[in-house]
Amino acid sequence: MEQKTQEEDQIVTPWEVAAEKGGKIDYDKLIDKFGCQRLDQSLIDRVARLTGRPPHVFLRRGVFFAHRDFSDVLDAYERGEKFYLYTGRGPSSEALHLGHLVPFMFTKYLQDAFKVPLVIQLTDDEKCMWKNLTVEESQRLARENAKDIIACGFDVSRTFIFSDFDYVGGTEASTCNLDYFSDVSIYFQEIFKMHTTIKCDMDPAGLWFCMVLLFEISPVSCHTCASSAFTVEIIVQFLLQEHGQDCKVVGIFGFSGEDHIGKVSFPPVQVDMLLAAPSFPSSFPHLFSGKDSLRCLIPCAIDQDPYFRMTRDVAPRLGYHKPALIESSFFPALQGETGKMSASDPNSAIYVTDSAKDIKNKVNRYAFSGGQDSIENHRKYGANLEVDIPVKYLGFFLDDDAELEHIRTEYGAGRMLTGEVKKRLIEVLTELVERHRRARAAVTDEMVDAFMAVRPLPNMFS
Ligand code: TYM
Ligand code: TRP
Repeated sequence: MEQKTQEEDQIVTPWEVAAEKGGKIDYDKLIDKFGCQRLDQSLIDRVARLTGRPPHVFLRRGVFFAHRDFSDVLDAYERGEKFYLYTGRGPSSEALHLGHLVPFMFTKYLQDAFKVPLVIQLTDDEKCMWKNLTVEESQRLARENAKDIIACGFDVSRTFIFSDFDYVGGTEASTCNLDYFSDVSIYFQEIFKMHTTIKCDMDPAGLWFCMVLLFEISPVSCHTCASSAFTVEIIVQFLLQEHGQDCKVVGIFGFSGEDHIGKVSFPPVQVDMLLAAPSFPSSFPHLFSGKDSLRCLIPCAIDQDPYFRMTRDVAPRLGYHKPALIESSFFPALQGETGKMSASDPNSAIYVTDSAKDIKNKVNRYAFSGGQDSIENHRKYGANLEVDIPVKYLGFFLDDDAELEHIRTEYGAGRMLTGEVKKRLIEVLTELVERHRRARAAVTDEMVDAFMAVRPLPNMFS
């Protein structure tokens, strides 16, 4: 994956986001490459009309810019058919950064505007296995992240948050789950060893064999977890449907023959069981029993698209609607739009736990400026808004359209200086983070339990 092929000038996968050298991410190209649709003005107008609310700032400003079948969801909604929302988080760190808030803030708006239920997946098992965390530590991070998510304002009467360890692994059977998991871990270690020595350009039959090996254990152990709620049938059908054919995964996830097969085997685990299953209503019998034709809409950043392309391929063969997607661009790193804000580089990110002082320092020190190098030149040429991170950030989080326009005009013409724009950004971000901090402090353990309880939601559509 590190190696760029000639025709691949930018990389966007669930693990890596990098623009062409020296450039920024080209979202138009991405739409073409991924084969999703552009979210155009007519769709935005429809959302406003159907919900009777002004479109969210992320819609107005094109932050959410792409979709798959969102128009079908709206058609159905217009006919009186509701849908459910599904989104998630891989709890790899204690605190979320501002980029993570983007899909959750938007999902809250969708939930309120359409009055629909929402399921939120915390893939703690993924992080346990891939970040070398213990089961307990992964579960703790999942609960900590759940507090940040709840702080975004979700409605408990319409929201189910679940962690894979609890919900997929079996709620009551926690000892069983842990035993099972230690077996899985050992098994996985062996698989990892094997996988890191095998290259992707091996023949499809060999690849398929490795995958079957990897999956063999999960349907079996699902049976041992009495309360495991994801249907084993779905998993098994997935395996047969998807991996019985040629190894499509290689193409979809953009691996090259040089990559080791461990990188290939992980997506199927997530896709087949973990990320895909919540796209189907039957995975939530306590919510959607008897509603197999309920549609699912997934808000996320476009890095998650590859997971759901596979899910969508297989959905009709399983008798479900393809999940629809509504996808955002990335909240960029402080250093510029060559990458996304990422938790793995603390200087690229502003966290919801940062103090006012941290925010001020980070913005002043690291936020890439499109301003000129001297005041004289700045007055003369104005700022380059195309590359300016403070203006870009204000585009996400400054609600007032008129003020944003004013800043763009004045700064672009050189009448406003970088320092002034940064000052305004610091105010906006400090207020946002402060508001989040207060909301999070009000989230109790009982509230987390309430959101995560496996329970029916009687008024979730009203
Ligand atoms: P994770 O934890 O990496 O990210 C959580 C959500 O935040 C989005 N995101 C961003 N959005 C805008 N700007 C950024 N800089 C930025 N960084 C991350 C991600 O796209 C994601 O929507 N595999 C997932 C967890 C997951 C999931 C899902 C996500 C499970 N099921 C269904 C979306 C929908 C993950 O590790 O996300
Ligand atoms: N539901 C299965 C189980 O708990 C599958 C499962 C969940 C799983 N997370 C996993 C399988 C991670 C493999 C790896 O038994």
